[in-house]
Amino acid sequence: MKLDRKVAIVTGAASGMGKAIAILFAKEGAKVAVSDINLDGAKETVKEIESSGGIAFAIKTDVASENDVDELVDKTVETYGTVDILVNNAGIMDGFEPIGEISTKKFDRILAINTKSIMLASRKVMPIFLAKGKGVIVNNASAAGVFGGRGGAAYTASKHAAIGLTKNTAFMYADKGIRANAIATGAVATNIAASMTNISQLGAARQGIGMPLNPRIGQPEEIANVALFLASDDSGFVNGAVLTADGGWTAY
Ligand SMILES: NC(=O)c1ccc[n+]([C@@H]2O[C@H](COP(=O)([O-])OP(=O)(O)OC[C@H]3O[C@@H](n4cnc5c(N)ncnc54)[C@H](O)[C@@H]3O)[C@@H](O)[C@H]2O)c1
Repeated sequence: MKLDRKVAIVTGAASGMGKAIAILFAKEGAKVAVSDINLDGAKETVKEIESSGGIAFAIKTDVASENDVDELVDKTVETYGTVDILVNNAGIMDGFEPIGEISTKKFDRILAINTKSIMLASRKVMPIFLAKGKGVIVNNASAAGVFGGRGGAAYTASKHAAIGLTKNTAFMYADKGIRANAIATGAVATNIAASMTNISQLGAARQGIGMPLNPRIGQPEEIANVALFLASDDSGFVNGAVLTADGGWTAY
């Protein structure tokens, strides 16, 4: 087992990739804090984990809320004694709005959920990681964090910033036993389309130009395998990396 005796926090773990990551990490021996704004969904994930003999608890967290994120980390430490792995996975899409169409309110919301959340959670676990001289952060970014046409202005900015946070964290703590890596995830079959509102005609048409180049839609479990690699000692020398997992979509 690759995560034996580790304690992992996974945000957005009620659905999609977060759920697959939580289940795989538990299978690999980790005790998992299954965190999501959707508590019922998080409880379902925990049920699945427990039915296979794994250990997990569900907790309601809005990752955009500092209080909620602090509570998530505190509750995890209270329950399992520590935190070894933080997976910042929770995220939402925009409506492909280009900058001329995005509202300030929506821009702020997307940046809060996709980007500020990473700062809040990483900052909160840092004293724990520093005290242990060990810790791993995995950020589920996106191909939209590396390229300009995979989302609207807000989503693209939020994921580019997520990658910036990842690299800065990796560099700043590189000699402290702490690693931070990001996944440049391609199109994956999840429920994320449900988070899309107010879809821009212009943005959707421009974004759609790149879609025929996508060889296939990935499965959440395929990204969970990448997250496991980045969270485990198998990737001990990988730090500040942006690992592309998109079936070759962005290879062109
Ligand atoms: N699906 C894709 O094609 C794709 C591609 C690239 C990157 N991503 C990224 O992958 C991550 C996971 O998304 P997914 O595709 O599995 O989507 P999903 O919608 O299936 O799962 C996302 C989860 O995040 C939760 N969530 C939403 N807002 C939250 C908040 N404020 N606080 C806490 N939890 C919240 C949702 O309740 C949901 O359970 C996201 O960061 C997303 O941007 C997805």
